[in-house]
Amino acid sequence: MSTARPLRLALPKGRNLTAALSALRVAGLDLSGLDANGRRLWQPFPEQGLEILMLKDWDLPLYVEHGIADLGIVGSDVLGELGSGLATPLRLRDGRCRLSLIGHPGELPPAGSAVRVASKYPATARRALQAFPWAVEIFRLEGSVELAPLLELADLALDVVQTGETLRAHGLAELQVVAEVAPCLVASAAACQRFRDRIGEWVTRLEAAAVAQ
Ligand code: PRP
Repeated sequence: MSTARPLRLALPKGRNLTAALSALRVAGLDLSGLDANGRRLWQPFPEQGLEILMLKDWDLPLYVEHGIADLGIVGSDVLGELGSGLATPLRLRDGRCRLSLIGHPGELPPAGSAVRVASKYPATARRALQAFPWAVEIFRLEGSVELAPLLELADLALDVVQTGETLRAHGLAELQVVAEVAPCLVASAAACQRFRDRIGEWVTRLEAAAVAQ
């Protein structure tokens, strides 16, 4: 196989797409013409020596782990929940947010309480909540997680907070930050060897771009 084949980069269709595109643009990668929100899931950019895959955040690590995509950009929340061991040569500056316990404004439940926690991140919740003195029951949800404490399906939710807009819209509060979250550049083991110089150059450009912004 030729070493000149395009580098295949997987971009996330979710909340991190804007941060990913902005970082790539500032780093000098011209992806104008990318059909980011449309139907084209695999797009060539021959002048950049690139191919772009558009993937759901939760699917993206699998494509990189299997070497189908050489690189990807995906949130550390997703990587942590999936237990991914992918190399993460860079955390992007833009698009950072928090994984937090959210609920009605007030104190966290007292020690010894039975606490129901709803989350899209059940494994992360199980790990993080070991630090709290509660008997915890975790409900796994796919989305609209804020409704769970609001409508008392659960006492708390563990979810992403970025602008805080969703919480404010529902009169909920961020009660405790559990983890800082950043969009991460991830690389397959094979790509780390085969494209070492190009990946190193990307990381340098992305780091320089973050500093210059
Ligand atoms: C996340 C999260 C919150 C919202 C928080 O959902 O589940 O609902 O964003 O962001 P904010 O603090 O800026 O309001 P996301 O947009 O990732 O969509 P999803 O529910 O489909 O995962």
